[in-house]
Amino acid sequence: MNMDGKTVLVTGSTDGVGRHVAAKLAAGGAKVLIHGRDKARAQTLAEEIRRHGHGEAAFYQADLSSLAGTRQLAEAVLADVRRLDLFISNAGIGSQNQGPQRQTSADGYELRFAVNYLSGFLLAYLLLPLLKASAPSRIVNVASLGQHPIDFDDVMITRGYSGGRAYAQSKLAQIMLTIDLADELRGSGVTVNSLHPATYMNTTMVRAGGITPISTVEQGGDAILHLAVGDDMAGKTGLFFNGMQQAKAHPQAYDATARERLRALSLELTGLASA
Ligand SMILES: NC(=O)c1ccc[n+]([C@@H]2O[C@H](COP(=O)([O-])OP(=O)(O)OC[C@H]3O[C@@H](n4cnc5c(N)ncnc54)[C@H](OP(=O)(O)O)[C@@H]3O)[C@@H](O)[C@H]2O)c1
Repeated sequence: MNMDGKTVLVTGSTDGVGRHVAAKLAAGGAKVLIHGRDKARAQTLAEEIRRHGHGEAAFYQADLSSLAGTRQLAEAVLADVRRLDLFISNAGIGSQNQGPQRQTSADGYELRFAVNYLSGFLLAYLLLPLLKASAPSRIVNVASLGQHPIDFDDVMITRGYSGGRAYAQSKLAQIMLTIDLADELRGSGVTVNSLHPATYMNTTMVRAGGITPISTVEQGGDAILHLAVGDDMAGKTGLFFNGMQQAKAHPQAYDATARERLRALSLELTGLASA
């Protein structure tokens, strides 16, 4: 992997598979914008990157459970870097982080929808001018095989809530965004793909769910890096992968009317509609 001269943003790179991917990209020579909430863990990764003598690291602390925090992250990145070759939207919470009860974001939205999907939607749109100016560039949305259709009459899941449903709804929303954005960006030199990295990797999210891990961050990391830097992915866009294999997502992802409803709602909820 030759990432010399490339700048990459990996959200949620203070831990788990995002951390692994950020370290790999830096080892390839990239300037890596590390993101997360935990400063101590970010510093450990930044020091590790500097010690290895490849690439560069900078830390951006932002809480994606707040749209203001998400906007601050985008503004800081846009102010600091002159190009962005790769945006990996990876930060996320699992079905059980912070307990099984329904939780809401700083803006009052269902928490998994806000952190796992809405913040990535907002970041992608705010970073698009820089991604376009840096083309060919790529966006990778780290989604999941866990996908639940969105009930447009109750997107915030006020009825029949479960952490699993909330997580899976947010992951399908990421895939719907991928297909939509890919269509919008066709011909711009910016490609957008999404994936299920691997099943039950040994990460904080999986352990918080009381699940015994069955795969490694190396396996999931390889799948993310394939979409992020793989030569065979050049020019390919709007696709969903299960690990290294192209796959079909939930049928709702291919429903143009549902995608349009989600897009309109997301523009409204993020304030982009009135921008
Ligand atoms: N683990 C799996 O088996 C699996 C399977 C399929 C898909 N995925 C997807 O892979 C991605 C990474 O998961 P992982 O297993 O590596 O998780 P993880 O180890 O729990 O790491 C999650 C990362 O997201 C960040 N994050 C969480 N909430 C945040 C918030 N409110 N604001 C900002 N950053 C936040 C964390 O940062 P701080 O710790 O600094 O707050 C951390 O860096 C997720 O999108 C997940 O849905 C994972």
